[in-house]
Amino acid sequence: VEYKVLTEDSTLPVAQKIKIREAEKARKEGKRVVIFGWIHRMRMQGKNMMFLTLRDGSGYLQCLLGKEMCQSVDIPKLTVESTVALYGTLVEVPEGKSAPGGHELIVDFWKLIHAAPSGIEAFETKLNKEAGPEVMYDQRHLVLRGETASSLMKLRSVFLQAFRQHYIEQHYVELTTPCLTQTECEGGSTLFKLDYYGEPAYLTQSSQLYLETAIPSMGDVFCIQMSFRAEASRTRRHLSEFTHIEAEMPFITYDELLERLEFLVCDVIEKALSSSSRDMILELNPDLKVPQRPFRRMQYKDAIEWLRQADFRKDDGTLYEYGEDIPEKPERFMVDTLGEPIFLCRFPTAMKAFYMFRDEEDPALTHSTDLLMPGVGEIIGGSMRIWDYEDIMKGYAREGIDPKFYYWYTDQRKYGACPHGGYGLGFERFLAWALKRDHVREVCFYPRYMKRCTP
Ligand code: 4AD
Repeated sequence: VEYKVLTEDSTLPVAQKIKIREAEKARKEGKRVVIFGWIHRMRMQGKNMMFLTLRDGSGYLQCLLGKEMCQSVDIPKLTVESTVALYGTLVEVPEGKSAPGGHELIVDFWKLIHAAPSGIEAFETKLNKEAGPEVMYDQRHLVLRGETASSLMKLRSVFLQAFRQHYIEQHYVELTTPCLTQTECEGGSTLFKLDYYGEPAYLTQSSQLYLETAIPSMGDVFCIQMSFRAEASRTRRHLSEFTHIEAEMPFITYDELLERLEFLVCDVIEKALSSSSRDMILELNPDLKVPQRPFRRMQYKDAIEWLRQADFRKDDGTLYEYGEDIPEKPERFMVDTLGEPIFLCRFPTAMKAFYMFRDEEDPALTHSTDLLMPGVGEIIGGSMRIWDYEDIMKGYAREGIDPKFYYWYTDQRKYGACPHGGYGLGFERFLAWALKRDHVREVCFYPRYMKRCTP
């Protein structure tokens, strides 16, 4: 082949810069365009024809380089992940052929902007899936260029917007809560400690306590904030840093709390499925539907009984007893067997956090709930909160918490206390359920879990 330096034909119309998402419009208008992007895939057909799949973040586009274009001096340098500017016109793909969007770009001029390496440094070599998941997470910055990983990140954005939209439509106020705290919310064992100008401080486990202080002047409130947990195990659903969607609502009843949760989950799924990303969602999880309301309600004690009836045994061969925590395995077994969302309700006081409201008739039980989803298990934890001053003092004492650091939280029980409740939803767990992923880390941009804090 005789390579040459390409020049743009000056008799052609000036190319208009577009994104791939605008390709259909440009084709209908018959415009000459220029599109900047990355080579996602490339295939040479003989010496005189090359098919490229261009990627620009807004979509994928098939591009065709004919004989003259294949004679460019830059052709031998072209590799997957190189950046280019492609000039040309869009046409429908020939009958019987398929391409993203049903069209392709017939290139009449192109420029190489940056050549990605070939050989042992080549992108394809670097991302050898056989190397195992940890090696792939070391290369997360490159993995994100893949179709599945980038679809998951885009859908993260779609679902995040659906959550926000739900809250805004329901008149909740969004708050930005502190990440650095000097109080615990969910027990000392998973706190990340740090030195704060010589004083102990922690990364937040939950914004709940702060949200509670907002309801007297802001009513229903929510936040979308990172929470941190020094989890001592690596499971399919535990992260050290996760996106926590939390809300707090004054003057609601326990039943209303459960109804709001059902509404939230169903409304968000409905919003996402009626968005322009519907096809992308269904490609990842063809079975996703808006769940039936009301969700099954199951008391904690009945869940223990269910597990015993099902003869589900712990690793040591014994059955679960009333008063024991229901860990991931039995929880998954139950929700996967029943195959529908389950509200686990009324957990014993002894198992739960200091702030949970107790049942008036049976103070050994709390007005609490975990929402379990098939495939993942718990995605939401919520409860009514103690709103009586004496009761909260007893709660601190029971958990060995020094009330000194909680004066601002306690004050809510002095200055116009009210019955109230709220919840926290693990966004990655929600996505793992909705998009049918095995592991929550797949839906994180850069996951943080035990022994991984990089890249
Ligand atoms: O059940 P949790 O610990 O409840 C709270 O933090 C409450 N203060 C929330 C509230 O009422 N405002 O956590 C709530 C949810 C869980 O259901 C789970 O989905 C998620 O947060 N979560 C985690 N997700 C990923 N990795 C972890 N290590 C998680 N810990 C909790």
